[in-house]
Amino acid sequence: ASTLGAAATEKGRYFGAAVAANHLGESAYASTLNSEFNSVTPENEMKWDATERTRGTFTFGSADQVVNHAQSRGMKVRGHTLVWHSQLPSWVAGLGTADLRSAMNNHITQVMQHYKGKIHSWDVVNEAFQDGSSGARRSSPFQDKLGNGFIEEAFRTARAADPAAKLCYNDYNTDGVNAKSNAVYNLVRDFKSRGVPIDCVGFQSHFNSASPVPSDYQANLQRFADLGVDVQITELDVEGSGTAQANNYSNVVRACLAVSRCTGITVWGVTDKYSWRASGTPLLFDGNYAKKPAYGAVLTALGGS
Ligand code: G3I
Repeated sequence: ASTLGAAATEKGRYFGAAVAANHLGESAYASTLNSEFNSVTPENEMKWDATERTRGTFTFGSADQVVNHAQSRGMKVRGHTLVWHSQLPSWVAGLGTADLRSAMNNHITQVMQHYKGKIHSWDVVNEAFQDGSSGARRSSPFQDKLGNGFIEEAFRTARAADPAAKLCYNDYNTDGVNAKSNAVYNLVRDFKSRGVPIDCVGFQSHFNSASPVPSDYQANLQRFADLGVDVQITELDVEGSGTAQANNYSNVVRACLAVSRCTGITVWGVTDKYSWRASGTPLLFDGNYAKKPAYGAVLTALGGS
């Protein structure tokens, strides 16, 4: 196979990219996306501030654009994200407990029902744990007002809204074995033991020279898979360039292929030109859509050429 998507398919995986609706009209952007990738994640368009900026008024225009683009080309779609402390409209933080509970459940239900049958996996809850050694929950309107049970409630609501979608917990700095990933691990283990619906864990995998791909990356993916959930690489990017960057990418792909329940990889953007890392070069295509060494390393690791 000569593209990322086709090579991944031969290994039983998908290979996706985060996509921004406002770039789809750029022909090089669209043609690179269309030829190389077979899954998309809307980069911002499904977040709460985009889909329910005003309480009870749902706006799906730009998210629909991304979903329609993908569906008409046979690409899968990851849903990102339903319950997150960031990109949250200020009205949410102003609600009292009972109101917040119903707003959270309504948001999950409305957004998931709108996309019912079109999303292979949803990031139901994103980034609910703190960095560092505490393993504690992060402060957020949901955590602070609804308490630890908000994650379970969100997943139960999500299962009811679209029973066919895989429901994921997604986070960063959980890529190796550490206090934060241990906290997520304990959450998933508890959910599985009590029958709380959860199907997958997303490992964002934002790497840079200060935090490269950890040596226990594969082992960490495997221990989650052993709990009975799929694992997905959901927002991969690696700061840097040249061989060092290529080697990090290659390590990620090889780790995923070595874990049978690692079902796919998504890179967090198509081109360096539009990466969220303002002046960075963390992706597989440069600002002119030329393939970087990292692209070749990924394709080779996937068994393509
Ligand atoms: O909404 C305004 C828009 O109205 C305006 O036209 C535009 C002009 O610059 O700014 C828009 O908001 C920006 C938004 O991206 C859409 O472009 C925000 O300022 C900017 O902060 C936002 O950044 C996004 C970031 O999440 C916000 O937290 C990045 O694009 C997106 O790549 C990034 O993605 C996150 C994942 O969702 C979760 N994991 C970490 C990852 C990287 O931070």
